[in-house]
Amino acid sequence: MCGIIGVAGADDATSAVLLEGLSNLEYRGYDSAGIAVGGDEVEVEKKEGELSALKRALAGRTLDGAVGIGHTRWSTHGPPSDENAHPHTDESGRVAVVHNGIIENYRALRDELEAKGVSFSSETDTEVVPHLIAEALDAGADPESAFRRAVERLEGSYALAAVVAGTDAIFAARHDSPLVLGIGDGAHYLASDIPAFLERTRDVVYLDEGEFAVLTPGDWRVEDELGEPVEKEVETVEWTAEQTGKSGYDHFMLKEIHEQPKALRQCLRGRVDELEGRITVEELDGLDAPEEVHFLACGTSYHAARYGALLLQEAGVHATAFLSSEYATSLPPIARDTLVVGITQSGETADTLSALRKARGRGVETVALTNVVGSTVARECDHVMYIRAGPEIGVAATKTFSSQLVGLNLFVEQLLADEPRNRDVRELVSALRDLPGQVQEVLDESRADEVVEEFMGAKSFFFIGRGVHYPVALEGALKFKEITYEHAEGFAAGELKHGPLALVTEETPVFALVTGDGENARKTIGNVKEVEARGAPVVVVTDGESDAERYADSVLEIPATHERTVPILANVQLQLVAYYMARRLGRAIDKPRNLAKSVTVE
Ligand code: G6P
Repeated sequence: MCGIIGVAGADDATSAVLLEGLSNLEYRGYDSAGIAVGGDEVEVEKKEGELSALKRALAGRTLDGAVGIGHTRWSTHGPPSDENAHPHTDESGRVAVVHNGIIENYRALRDELEAKGVSFSSETDTEVVPHLIAEALDAGADPESAFRRAVERLEGSYALAAVVAGTDAIFAARHDSPLVLGIGDGAHYLASDIPAFLERTRDVVYLDEGEFAVLTPGDWRVEDELGEPVEKEVETVEWTAEQTGKSGYDHFMLKEIHEQPKALRQCLRGRVDELEGRITVEELDGLDAPEEVHFLACGTSYHAARYGALLLQEAGVHATAFLSSEYATSLPPIARDTLVVGITQSGETADTLSALRKARGRGVETVALTNVVGSTVARECDHVMYIRAGPEIGVAATKTFSSQLVGLNLFVEQLLADEPRNRDVRELVSALRDLPGQVQEVLDESRADEVVEEFMGAKSFFFIGRGVHYPVALEGALKFKEITYEHAEGFAAGELKHGPLALVTEETPVFALVTGDGENARKTIGNVKEVEARGAPVVVVTDGESDAERYADSVLEIPATHERTVPILANVQLQLVAYYMARRLGRAIDKPRNLAKSVTVE
């Protein structure tokens, strides 16, 4: 999500090396940036907004010192602001820290520190770290032990780097969030991503889980959790500058498709308790199950909304998904006990904001389900739940859609937690836990590229599904048309025979979603037979539980899982179908014609 750069013993001014590193990390997306330069003292400059704002704040000053750390922040706790930007410091300003990830027990640590009289200057989870380091220093620990003691108190995910006044060293630690060292000639670097320092060195050392590193201008070392030295291999990377921003992928879209296992883990973190078989979304605590739910969304998010409505309907709650633009145009009756939920990854879509404002005008409670902390939707709604997918650069939404679907499962269970319906979520919890690994399996084994090769020159592409697969059929078609510019439509499988079947010929490949072996699978197989009889090539996306493969020309396999998580796996195959077709056609995949990532006009 966020980006980290560090340097010990820079050839140029330390602040110049840090700014160069941050500018190399800009492609990741960020909403604030900052640097800290250490040596005898620690100097910090940080600013909300783009790097140019940070440069203006520096007003031409260069900060020089033996060591420095820098950060681009993509908010997860607290909106973008100067105070919430990293680096964070202790009260005396002796310690500065940058952090990627989420510290799950920060609330308890913050309460403990505040009870001891420590005052905080930001809303972030990160700020507990410099205060913990300062506490250990005050208790007589040397800087390295103080850093270790602080890290021992943390739960969650972190890539951390700290500088302490009077010490020419950077202290770093990694747990569930990457960190890599750059080994230069007389200078040592540290970053969340190699592109940050690639102009300066190609020799890198990857930190492994639980490892600590200490970088000084003349030396570097890595230790394990117990403080034992670890022998690390120095590897040389051979990337080109063009590849670096995309971490070696040809397109941001492909990179983001591959980031899904990580994005889903991030969405689930701290919200799913496997031992207790419980799901809790802390930020929605106190929100009771309403009589009725209206979901408002556009584009891909609307497909997530339809999925969310199905989950609630299944639990016996009246729920409807509306297109935001239609809702704003002809407002339906809104009963007093209706909860209105805006789903928007960007948090800035004008149609959704306008529809939500109209609903608020009727005096009902609103919830935002979004990816962007501090976005307009997050500020305007009564409650907000973040999907934590990390920045998405490709215009076509991929990882944010998967995270929305996972987020909706959590949202629904949080809403119904106190219901006397005695819901057993243990199976769902275990399916959610396995999901990131299963998405990885689909990514590793997908045959989507070979399958689409057969269909070059086809006239139209149809996607069919039933129940929870219907929103995925719609999304599969939307993704396909957005980036291939070919005609594609998604249909409810059962609706095909009521009209669209007239379009089906040998030139219209049909992608059918068939999972499980129940009634839905049987009926969808019936629909597959209908199109097959008209000569259409059929691709089934299936978990192999039924005999759907018998009626298919090609198969895209997914692992079997819970019926609520299976559409997420099916959708990953369809993302790859769209991507590889667009690539074969030479389309502008990351920036399709006429489309924008965030549409701020109605
Ligand atoms: C635009 C994008 C779509 C996106 C829709 C909703 O139309 O091109 O990909 O699904 O906006 O965006 P949101 O940020 O509200 O989820």
